[in-house]
Amino acid sequence: MTASAPASAIESMLVENRVFPPADAIVQAARVSGMAAYAALCAEADGDFEGFWARQARSNLQWSRPFTRTLDASNAPFFQWFADGELNASANCLDRHVGTPTENKTAIVFEADDGALTRVSYRELFARVGQFANALKAHGVAKGDRVLIYMPMSIEGVVAMQACARIGATHSVVFGGFSAKAVHERIVDAGAVAVVTANCQMRGGKELPLKTTIDEALAMGGCDGVRNVFVYQRTATACAMRAGRDKSFAEALAGQSTDCAALAVGAEHPLFILYTSGSTGKPKGVQHSTGGYLLWAKMTMDWTFDLRADDVFWCTADIGWITGHTYVAYGPLAAGATQIIFEGVPTFPNAGRFWQMIERHRCTIFYTAPTAIRSLIKAAEADAAVHPARSDLSSLRILGSVGEPINPEAWMWYHQNVGGGRCPVVDTFWQTETGGHVIAPLPGATPLVPGSCTLPLPGIAAAVVDETGRDMPHGAGGILVIKRPWPSMIRTIWNDPERFRKSYFPEELRGYYLAGDGAVRSVDRGYFRITGRIDDVLNVSGHRMGTMEIESALVAKTDLVAEAAVVGRPDAVTGEAICAFVVLKRARPTGEEAGQIANELRNWVAKEIGPIAKPRDIRFGDNLPKTRSGKIMRRLLRSIAKGEAITQDISTLENPAILEQLSQTN
Ligand code: WT7
Repeated sequence: MTASAPASAIESMLVENRVFPPADAIVQAARVSGMAAYAALCAEADGDFEGFWARQARSNLQWSRPFTRTLDASNAPFFQWFADGELNASANCLDRHVGTPTENKTAIVFEADDGALTRVSYRELFARVGQFANALKAHGVAKGDRVLIYMPMSIEGVVAMQACARIGATHSVVFGGFSAKAVHERIVDAGAVAVVTANCQMRGGKELPLKTTIDEALAMGGCDGVRNVFVYQRTATACAMRAGRDKSFAEALAGQSTDCAALAVGAEHPLFILYTSGSTGKPKGVQHSTGGYLLWAKMTMDWTFDLRADDVFWCTADIGWITGHTYVAYGPLAAGATQIIFEGVPTFPNAGRFWQMIERHRCTIFYTAPTAIRSLIKAAEADAAVHPARSDLSSLRILGSVGEPINPEAWMWYHQNVGGGRCPVVDTFWQTETGGHVIAPLPGATPLVPGSCTLPLPGIAAAVVDETGRDMPHGAGGILVIKRPWPSMIRTIWNDPERFRKSYFPEELRGYYLAGDGAVRSVDRGYFRITGRIDDVLNVSGHRMGTMEIESALVAKTDLVAEAAVVGRPDAVTGEAICAFVVLKRARPTGEEAGQIANELRNWVAKEIGPIAKPRDIRFGDNLPKTRSGKIMRRLLRSIAKGEAITQDISTLENPAILEQLSQTN
């Protein structure tokens, strides 16, 4: 990746004058109460950086062996935190509550796609995790082994993750929407020894198979390391089971004790790998630590969500994404919260499902993505029966947004129609790599401005700089960096430390962490507004997609595709939409034939990566716009995708006539 921001990222600040300071009652009751308290925490972190983090780590986590050294920067950028300390992540989520009044508290309320409810207390979850951990051990899974988890949203998915953590196995959760090919790539890259999956997942009343995808992936070769596949029977539908390798949960758990002592591991022990898209065709296995990661998961539950003992927390993210790791599988449990886990989709049986669920469970903290909000606004405007006004949302006290910039209109609607004008909306900026929130308001302190994620959390040295790492003045756009390491940061890219160094710590940036986003700070308050990715990464419905990944998938259809270029265009609901420009090995198709081939290519991409990567628009050309040296001019493709007239300089373009052809819709 290069550290230069294209002109589109360095755009001028939209003027946003609305400011929503927190109500006095909220400030008084909050953990971090008022801006002076926020400033004091920031000053503490600035003045005594290591001391600040050490105190937080001691008070927020239970250590089996106390650490004596806080930050080890001797091998930067491979920073180590609390490295000589030992702890177990699962013990910090479960054991710490057992024997306290929290043990009988509901840990998870699970609402299935069809509305069926299941509750587990902390004590029950502790027993289920212990039993599954024993099953893993009995099948030879040991400390340091990688376990691939391909599960529906379920209590069992969380149990599988926690069970891995309990025995020191490193999990790699793959979102259930990824294809067999994508699963295969991740099994091979991580060198997984076991897979945890389900016969199917239920979404919107439909059964979607999961186990068959695992079978296909394992048949692709190079997966000999996988000795066991554990299958959760989500429904009665049978799936093929290979003798010796596959076993149902029932079989694996039979006779296993629910007691499994949590294994203390070093704070730097890899808790998990989570693959995400970068600017090349190959996904990156982001590796997270145990101690630093869990510390921030717990602290941000307390700070950003101002968590209280009686909260009912609901993060709608899937456990296949980082949000579902930090704010479903780890953070809420470490903090002792009651949380809702939802299997289904927001539009089934109707688009009022989220609001009905908030009412049903008396949810107090609701955390979702702008793309969901925007699609539910549309639905509510079309049909009053699914409007949030139809549900009693009076239990809510804090709303959160995550995954992409939230446009001020959607923010206002969320604030007014869901939050009744009384709930702070915390717009949380972070990434798979940051482990948890890095720029976000504190609900009992920060005056809110729609469309802004406001200020860095205490201890996070976020800044906007130019290509050489110099601070930009407020009001001027630049590159978002974090100047100092922090405990929950990415440790490395699995199997590729050089790529880690190059992607996140480019030399020109003085050792700062490069987030990959552009940002601008407001002149009046210094608030951050994220202007979007500065690399070849798209954000579609809050899902990160590499343009190169989609291009590689398209050109892998070698019988048909000669060349492909993928860009994003703005979309009112999904944030960005994927647009592919394709040159075929045969004559450029038009009309009905173009439509058919486009569909064939969409289905192909769904098989190569997953349905989330399907291009929305596919345009065919005899060629792509290129410079004389043969470089594809993507900025021109971006304009065409948007339907804009091309006003940019095209003097370096070799084949100007192609613009006209690509601009025609086909
Ligand atoms: C990218 C990270 C954060 C967990 C889920 C996505 C974009 C994320 C915001 C926000 C503006 C945001 C950035 C970032 N992003 N949150 N509040 N405002 N942009 O994690 O898949 O690693 O994607 O999502 O572009 O770099 P991810």
